[in-house]
Amino acid sequence: MQNNTFSTLFVGQNLIKLLAVDSTNSFLKRMLSNSEPLPEGTVIMAENQYSGRGQVESTWYAEPGKNLTFSILLHPSFLPIQQQFTLNMAVSVAIRQTLMAITGPGLTIKWPNDIYYKDKKIGGVLIENIIAGSRIKACIVGIGINVNQQTFDSALNNRASSIYQILHEDVNLISLLAEICSHIEAGYLKLKSGGYHTLRNDYLNFLYRFGVKAKYRQNGEIFEGRIVDVSDQGFLSLETEKGLMTYNFKEIEFSQP
Ligand code: BTN
Repeated sequence: MQNNTFSTLFVGQNLIKLLAVDSTNSFLKRMLSNSEPLPEGTVIMAENQYSGRGQVESTWYAEPGKNLTFSILLHPSFLPIQQQFTLNMAVSVAIRQTLMAITGPGLTIKWPNDIYYKDKKIGGVLIENIIAGSRIKACIVGIGINVNQQTFDSALNNRASSIYQILHEDVNLISLLAEICSHIEAGYLKLKSGGYHTLRNDYLNFLYRFGVKAKYRQNGEIFEGRIVDVSDQGFLSLETEKGLMTYNFKEIEFSQP
């Protein structure tokens, strides 16, 4: 079970590599519901994820063999349910930090937890919690990063990019996975030991369009606003001409620049 590629304490030490699967999140969920004994930090990665799931019931498409599609099992029993978004913050900050070391400046976190390079998406996070009573029993952190994919479907309207499109060279997928796992573990342990305030500051500092006047869309109506905060529950606060407005995930869209 010891995985020597990863210099972590537990994240990625049990690494299960699959050639093909519908969704690594669904696979991990199935393993948990079959009561498979899995240590915290287990990572399921797939070379070909043919039915990947994204936020808001979207699909996540990744060209087989070119990208990172993986899920991490965590047990954040220390985290009250009302603060579950702080784990999203820790994970997005960790991914942004890892990728930043490779791509240089231009990487941000688009609320709630997309990873952006300039105005294009290069990664996404889908966290699924299994709740027991008032605590989070298990948490499946699903991560997709566009790494060595060179081209994207025209249906994405030029809104997706990859590390390859930034660097014009391939990156080793397992080394990148190891780096991401190491940063996620550090962020998770920081959250566990009460380092929430610095994580939250990092999240807001790295947030796409934070403090900047930009256009948003709600129910077909476009309006101007400035992001001023994100709560522990994950609500986005915008300063608008109607005053301070707060939005849940599905309630608002970012308008193209
Ligand atoms: C999003 O931006 O909408 C979230 C995308 C999350 C995709 C990852 S890929 C690995 C894991 N398995 C899934 O089915 N989805 C997540």
